[in-house]
This record gives sequence, C-alpha cells and structure tokens, in this order.
Amino acid sequence: MSLTSDNFSIGDLSSDEFKKNGKYLIDWIAGYFESLEDKPVIPQIKPGNIKSKLPETPPFKSESLEKIFKDVDEIIMPGMTHWNHPGFMAYFNSTSTGPAIFGELLSAAFNINGMLWQSCPASVELEKVVIDWVRQMLNLHENFWGTSYDTASVSSFHAIASARQLAYEKYGEDKLDKFVVYSSEHAHSSIDKAAIAAGFRKQNIKKVEVDDDFRMSPNFLKQLVEEDKNKGLIPVCVTATVGTTSTTSIDPVEEISKICEENGLWLHVDAAHGGVLAMLPEKSYILEGCEKADSFVVNPHKWMFVPIDISLLFVKKPEILKRAFTLIPEYLKTEHDDEAENPMDYGIQLGRRFRALKLWFAIRFFGTEGYRKIYREHIRIALLFREWIIQDENFELAAPTPMSTVCFRAVPGKSQDMDELNSLNKELISKINSSGKIFLTHTKLNEKFVVRLVVSGIRTYESHVRMAYDIIKKSLQEIMKEKES
Ligand SMILES: Cc1ncc(COP(=O)(O)O)c(C=O)c1O
Repeated sequence: MSLTSDNFSIGDLSSDEFKKNGKYLIDWIAGYFESLEDKPVIPQIKPGNIKSKLPETPPFKSESLEKIFKDVDEIIMPGMTHWNHPGFMAYFNSTSTGPAIFGELLSAAFNINGMLWQSCPASVELEKVVIDWVRQMLNLHENFWGTSYDTASVSSFHAIASARQLAYEKYGEDKLDKFVVYSSEHAHSSIDKAAIAAGFRKQNIKKVEVDDDFRMSPNFLKQLVEEDKNKGLIPVCVTATVGTTSTTSIDPVEEISKICEENGLWLHVDAAHGGVLAMLPEKSYILEGCEKADSFVVNPHKWMFVPIDISLLFVKKPEILKRAFTLIPEYLKTEHDDEAENPMDYGIQLGRRFRALKLWFAIRFFGTEGYRKIYREHIRIALLFREWIIQDENFELAAPTPMSTVCFRAVPGKSQDMDELNSLNKELISKINSSGKIFLTHTKLNEKFVVRLVVSGIRTYESHVRMAYDIIKKSLQEIMKEKES
C-alpha cells in the first residue's frame, strides 16, 4: 500500500488519505498484537539510544505519513517495553484490547473537552453512567458518587484534598500544620505524594506498622492516633489499601473503619489494582468494610483491559470535593449550572477528554461475565505457579497470594545469609529479564529482596506462566554454575 500525503497544502489530511492510512495502521496494530511473542518484552538497549536516532530539531517541511510510520518501525519499536506482551509480569500490568482501542480512537477523533455539561453532554453523561456501572460491578455502596481522572495518584490526591477540606471546615485552615494522615508501610508512594501536594507536613504523614501478612495493624493505628491527639496534633485521614503494590495484601478495612468512625477520620481506600476482583462473588470479601469509606479508588487501566489512562474516584460526599475545587470564572458560567453537573467543579483539571468511551466499549464487550472468567483464570494460573515455587527446594514463597501476584525468592542450598541472598536474587532478576521472554520486577519485604510475578495481562495464559517458571529455574541454575566454576 502506498502511503503518501504529498497533497499536503493547508488543512488536515484528505478523507481519502485518512482512510488509506487508517486501514494501514489498523492492519499494523493487528500484526503487532499477532507478533508480540516474537518480540523481546523489554528492549535490550542503553539510555539515550532512541534519542540519538531522532533529529534534534523539528522538521520545517511537511513529512509523509509513510516516512513517519517507517520511523515507528525502525526507531520507536526497538525502544519499546511491551506492556501488552504475555510475558510482561512486572509491576501491575496494564493491557490494551481491541474494543478499548476503538473507544480511544473515537475519543481522539471527537476531540471534545468535557469540562462542562454544555461543552459535551454525551461525554459527561456517558461517564456518569459507565462509572456507576463499575460501582455496581464491584458491588460498592450505592451512595458512592464517581468521577474519573488520569491515574490513581491523582484520584488519591483529590480524596486526600477532600479530607483536608473537611478538616479546614472543622478546625480552621490555620491548623493545617497539625493535620496528620496515616497509611501502612505498604501503601503506594502516591498516597504520600498526594498528602505532600495537599500541604500536609512531611512529618505528619505517618506510617502504620503491618502484621506478618503485610496488612495494616489496626491496633498500631489506634495507638498512633491516640498518641498524636495527646501531642495536640489533629488526625485527619487514613488510607487503607486493598491490594498493596508489593504483595497485594488487603488491609482490614472493616476494623480500620471503626477507628476512623470513633475518631472522626476520613477513610480513603486505595484499590487501584486489586479492587476489580470484587466482581467475583468468591472474592467479594476483599471490599468488606469499604461501604464505610469516604472515598475509594480503582483503576480500569490496570486490570480491566482498557489502555492507560483512566482511574475512578468514588466519594460519598461529592459536595466536599466540590467545595475544595470549585472556582467558576465568568466565562465558564452556563445556563445549565443549576441542573447539570460540571466535571470541572470536581478537580484540579479543567480540560477533560472523552475518557469514558474506551471503558464503555470494554465493559460492553467483556461484560461482567467475561471479566469474571478472565480473573478466575488469572488467579488459577498464579496459584499454579505458586505451587511450583512451594514444591521447589531452591525457592521460597515470600508472602501470601490473596490475588494473582506471587512473591518469592531463590534460596539455593537453603542459605539464610541476607546480603548474599539479596545480591543473588538481584542477579537472578536481571538474568531472567535478559531472556527477553518475560519481564519481572522486585520489591523488598522485611529487608529481603523479593521477586514478584504478576498475572493480570489479558494475553497471559498457563503456557506463559510455565515458560516463566522454566526460565526462572534455568536462570538460577546458570548463576549457580557460574559461581561454582
Ligand atoms: C495500590 C496502588 N495504588 C496506586 C498506584 C498508582 O497508580 P497510578 O499509576 O494510576 O497513579 C499503584 C500503581 O501501581 C498501586 O499499585
């Protein structure tokens, strides 16, 4: 197919050229998905390699789409980490899917700004409906009202800013220096960043100890809150996590909620990755107590097969969020302001893309039933891998597996020397990743360097997890052989 845009003069690509190039690109994407397994999951390149192949100055003259597409193949592809790859079992996965890509494509084509109801009623109203669908799919309390942002970091910022707003109203803005927020040592770093951005003093961002299963200790929380009150500080907010980043541990939200209730604290729940598992009736217990929360975040872009970015924030009292963020200049007033919700009133951003489209496409395509089938399979194969680790004398499990993330480390010869094992496991992970077949990342648990294997990609099947186990075993054997010789 010839790909030229030589007819560029003034204005957009012609309709014919758009169709021709669009067909090429859709074919290209289909081919990309088909050939993913032949590509290395992470690029074997050094920092600066991609930049060195790109011109330092912008083009003065128009370039053809053919040339741009060619550069995608030749310059961009070699620097790609393939999050869609079945061997991507690192971090928390985010995989894209056909239906959601169509939604994303339409969103770029419509290019609306859904800041106000008037600026795009379809966007504002579809978003409301789709977010409420997610609430129902997770069986979240019907009093939760939802909105969307780009990431969980930003959702949590708005939750914590709402907690601060309520505290301003109760105690006065001049008491900000005394406000304290709490989360467990295993809460995501975005919670601390949110608190910093909301103006809390760093020393008032406190860490609650965890139990042996990496779950927040309610007793410790209670004690900390008591101590802080006695010191004249003002406890304001607790963040509990359902599915912590390191191990997917689940904080005891029910017990934490009682402490929050007794002390008038805002309860925020970060369920960015794991919350979606509540779609499974047998896993609905993971959200026990969340009906008492003031705010709750879940990311469709993590485990609902929707391309990054979309994060949902649910709050019980949107009016608090609104009081924290409403500021309406004359030029944004409309005649519908009394009868319609304007998304710009519920956050820091004004401009807002048609983000709900991709989620709408995905939910309609998969249905709750589809998600359930996939989640059950992810859990099944993660537990299979866990069993292989338990049975293998050269490895040990490093944490419980409440979802589909397995934390383990190599312990050949049952050595217990911490430094030795930490450097061995570090070496192991880089050997595994250099295979190009799978990509794993690590965490530290009680000073132990631990490998994480996450099963949440839509293209990851049992065969890939078997392959991962083989690569892990073989990599360890090679390292041990090198050490012996
Ligand atoms: C539990 C948890 N919360 C929040 C985040 C941050 O997510 P985002 O990248 O959407 O800000 C992560 C990222 O993995 C996470 O695991």
